[in-house]
Amino acid sequence: MKVLISGGAGFIGSHLVDRFLNEGAKVIVVDNLITGLKSNIAAHFNNKDFEFINQDVCESLPTKDKVDLILHLASPASPFDYLKYPIETMRTASIGTFNMLELARKNGARFLLASTSEVYGDPQIHPQTEKYWGNVNPVGPRSVYDEGKRFAEALTAGFYRKYKLPVVIIRIFNTYGPRMRPGDGRVIPTFINQALRNEPISIFGDGNQTRSFCYVDDMVEGICRASQVNHSQPINLGNPREYTILQLAEIVKNLCQSTSQYKFLPLPQDDPQKRKPDITKAKKLLQWEPKIELEQGLKNVIEWFKKENQSILHKR
Ligand SMILES: NC(=O)c1ccc[n+]([C@@H]2O[C@H](COP(=O)([O-])OP(=O)(O)OC[C@H]3O[C@@H](n4cnc5c(N)ncnc54)[C@H](O)[C@@H]3O)[C@@H](O)[C@H]2O)c1
Repeated sequence: MKVLISGGAGFIGSHLVDRFLNEGAKVIVVDNLITGLKSNIAAHFNNKDFEFINQDVCESLPTKDKVDLILHLASPASPFDYLKYPIETMRTASIGTFNMLELARKNGARFLLASTSEVYGDPQIHPQTEKYWGNVNPVGPRSVYDEGKRFAEALTAGFYRKYKLPVVIIRIFNTYGPRMRPGDGRVIPTFINQALRNEPISIFGDGNQTRSFCYVDDMVEGICRASQVNHSQPINLGNPREYTILQLAEIVKNLCQSTSQYKFLPLPQDDPQKRKPDITKAKKLLQWEPKIELEQGLKNVIEWFKKENQSILHKR
């Protein structure tokens, strides 16, 4: 099987690359490295089953060989990144998704769209089921990402209706693990790096807003299973265990044996108050649910950041 992974040099994408290569597939990564890192995939550069195309998905993509499956993950994903690259984010969600869908159509390939829980915006129902249409500010700062992904979902559904293209849309809830960038602004790498340096941990608002965190190995398993089913409607993938941001900060602080204090900052505009996936559909359709507890996952990431920070110090 030949798999094309757009955004394969990023955090989740690079774990998918490892997984598909391990299972004997041939893998092509298309990534312009806007938020990804070559080092995430460097281990495969000498592998004959692996090809890296350093390219923007907004440019059209002639591939030499036929592909069987396209996993479309390319997109800035952290609020820090998509606020820095608002137009690039919207171009990627629209033109980039169109190009990937066209490529799937020409190849007769299956197509998986990595969408997001952000399509629910600041949700008015809790937990969020796939039937909920969301509460998104269409012109707020986050809209470049939220509305971009909503457009990408609509386009994917359109290709299914018009061309019967085999598509699946997954709505990923907060996922964490090794290879997140320390400065990407997402809560787990930020807290861990602040705690490891005993610097103040920055909490937005009063810290009572909630999130649910899924370890990347669980997410990769969910994505692999989703890529094999015939289901053209969205599927939530995430860990339904819900924590307040303050609880998360406390757990990270303890695991890092840190003396950090908390620094409370204003809540960003349109920040969701609650986030928790209803994964009934994923359980039924994919026989999937997350297995890795938050404490265990965090320990892995803390160890990974410690090693990364050491190797940066050595290189200096
Ligand atoms: N990590 C999460 O918690 C989370 C949650 C919801 C949805 N997602 C979705 O999963 C996908 C991967 O997220 P991630 O956390 O790995 O982010 P990431 O930023 O680490 O990876 C995204 C990758 O896409 C690449 N990219 C972006 N725009 C591109 C373009 N125009 N052309 C080619 N490559 C491009 C980047 O260089 C990067 O390697 C994204 O689509 C994101 O929206 C992630």
